[in-house]
Amino acid sequence: MKSIGSYPTTRLRRNRKKDWTRRLIQENDLSANDLIWPIFITEGKNVIENIDTMPGVYRYSIDKIEKLVERALLNKIPMISLFPNTPINKKNEKGSEALNRNNLVCRALRLIKKKYKEIGVMCDVALDPYTTHGHDGILKKKYVDNDETIKILIKQSLLQAEMGCDVIAPSDMMDGRIGKIRNALDAKGHKSVQILSYAVKYASNFYGPFRDAIGSKKSLKSDKKDYQMDFKNSNEALREVALDIKEGADFVMVKPGMPYLDIIKLVKDNFKIPVFAYQVSGEYSLIKNGIKNNIINEDAIYESLISFKRAGANAIVTYFADKIGKELRLKF
Ligand code: PBG
Repeated sequence: MKSIGSYPTTRLRRNRKKDWTRRLIQENDLSANDLIWPIFITEGKNVIENIDTMPGVYRYSIDKIEKLVERALLNKIPMISLFPNTPINKKNEKGSEALNRNNLVCRALRLIKKKYKEIGVMCDVALDPYTTHGHDGILKKKYVDNDETIKILIKQSLLQAEMGCDVIAPSDMMDGRIGKIRNALDAKGHKSVQILSYAVKYASNFYGPFRDAIGSKKSLKSDKKDYQMDFKNSNEALREVALDIKEGADFVMVKPGMPYLDIIKLVKDNFKIPVFAYQVSGEYSLIKNGIKNNIINEDAIYESLISFKRAGANAIVTYFADKIGKELRLKF
């Protein structure tokens, strides 16, 4: 950067003096277009269930979904994302409930897509909501078998696409799954179904409340370090993204969010592809509890979301989407 002057002729505080001038020089902003809202669904009727480790986030029975979609539409949120809390008696070693046409996600997809055409619906592709061991794939000698897992992920993707899912989001971190899923979707006439690859997903300590929400926390006895990325690495993230782009990903995700802003920027600078960030459950709960206990104030939410925009994220998956979407609507 060339010299930009010096004190006292140059005083950067001049441009910050009033709200109007701060608005003029602002480099980043947040709109509802930047938000993706994750929603937890559960069995039953008329259920709105607390999640102990995620204050202010609930599991909803399917009959509550229409109201939520309408809220998302009202607030102009472009896409929601569905996560199932599968009843324990429907889980097994192989996660076969993932392929049940009447599982929670399929029922919710049919309901939403019958009625609402103007909202995107994204679904995770991975087996962890359905397995008794809580891993994202098929275990063979305590190791998640890559290629056996992909075979099932392909079926899960095809089923979700058939049910009306707009964006298939593999979050499993198997090698080579994006290309295989893309080919299968194309072969079955789902050429316009998009793929959001969780390309850079770290084996993170920030996923705890999510695992609580989908009921996989107690079942998961080990960690996911032999398929999710080591948080000490960043070059490896670029290799993951490069491969997934080659295999046909439409967008890529970096996850978690705030501890990985450097990775978002790195990916954005190196590949001109839409990059999404996932402000994960642990990040959500830390901020939420901080606010509840008067440690930080509520504007910290907005600040955290702007940080993703500054890093170069096109959109953010956040449990604050509903609240922030509403605030943005009321503001303008
Ligand atoms: C599972 C999945 C996880 C999240 C989204 N999809 C957890 C995990 O990998 O164990 C985490 C989301 C969050 O913490 O908010 N494939």
